[in-house]
Amino acid sequence: AKVIYIGSAGEEYAVEASVGDTVMAAAVRNGVPGIVAECGGNCSCATCHVYVGEEFARAVGPAHDMEDDLLDMAVSERRATSRLSCQIRITEELDGLTVEIPPEQP
Ligand code: FES
Repeated sequence: AKVIYIGSAGEEYAVEASVGDTVMAAAVRNGVPGIVAECGGNCSCATCHVYVGEEFARAVGPAHDMEDDLLDMAVSERRATSRLSCQIRITEELDGLTVEIPPEQP
């Protein structure tokens, strides 16, 4: 499935990600800047924060409890579509997913 990461300057990184992978892991593996993922996907650092594209918000779904708490501590402003990318698993349905990388995550 294809995932498109959009940087804060509007630059796009299109990545071919495997179903079952997380949006965070696919970014790190492909060298997408701005997804720091300090904790390696354990839902404890909030440095993998992204804004899910509006058209995919429903398919991706809301943050779960622990993630929700952590999002409050993220460096960048929290929005309705904020998720931690290590908690989004890629499915066929999410093919073409766009996620925006927050500005304060260089
Ligand atoms: Fe640390 Fe997602 S990688 S919370």
